[in-house]
Amino acid sequence: MIVAIDGPAGSGKGTISKKLAEYFNLSYLDTGILYRAVALQMLTEGINEKDCRSAKKVARQVSITSIDHSGIRTRAVSDLASKIATISSVRKELLTRQRRFAQNPDPDKDGAILDGRDIGTVVCPNADFKLFIMAELEIRAKRRWKELLQSDPTVIYSEVLEEMRSRDERDTNRKDAPLVVTSDAMVIDTSNKSIDVSFNEAKNWILSRRF
Ligand code: CDP
Repeated sequence: MIVAIDGPAGSGKGTISKKLAEYFNLSYLDTGILYRAVALQMLTEGINEKDCRSAKKVARQVSITSIDHSGIRTRAVSDLASKIATISSVRKELLTRQRRFAQNPDPDKDGAILDGRDIGTVVCPNADFKLFIMAELEIRAKRRWKELLQSDPTVIYSEVLEEMRSRDERDTNRKDAPLVVTSDAMVIDTSNKSIDVSFNEAKNWILSRRF
């Protein structure tokens, strides 16, 4: 079985996806790490964000299994990831890897679960289950701000809020594979719900439609 999870930053989709992966015995891929890996490599090499040819070359070299997770969660990487995610040639490179992952889960698993922005629309349009996880912008920004405070006590909430607003705008307004709610997706608003309540909602929805 294939589960597609989409939603904006800070909606809780990553945590819910991991819990669903464990419950249903699925291979899990956070597709955002691919875009983040490209962004980090570009920052390291000093490549200009508008240099589409170089961005594509970097994307071609990204391999899911060898991504170094340290340093990919910074604000600079988040910002650049959403910028290079608007480049179609970058998306095309990363799409093949994501589809391969979805179609070839580990042999001991019962399928795959992928989370991102375009999983239900582009990566796995035929997924058995599609979920859209959302929350109000201010609540999502507050969650991200609290996360960032753990490594940097000087982080300012209003800046995190503005960065998230810009990222939302880029992700929803880009031409190629924008973040959209599709009519076949189950929408969960986590604004005023705990992770456990949101997870149970997702899990029970899948169970109720599984057979
Ligand atoms: O963790 P967070 O929700 O903040 O972001 P992420 O899922 O790691 O994704 C980082 C950026 O990559 C997003 O802002 C998107 O612009 C881009 N992305 C995308 O375009 N398509 C995906 N399937 C996943 C991420």
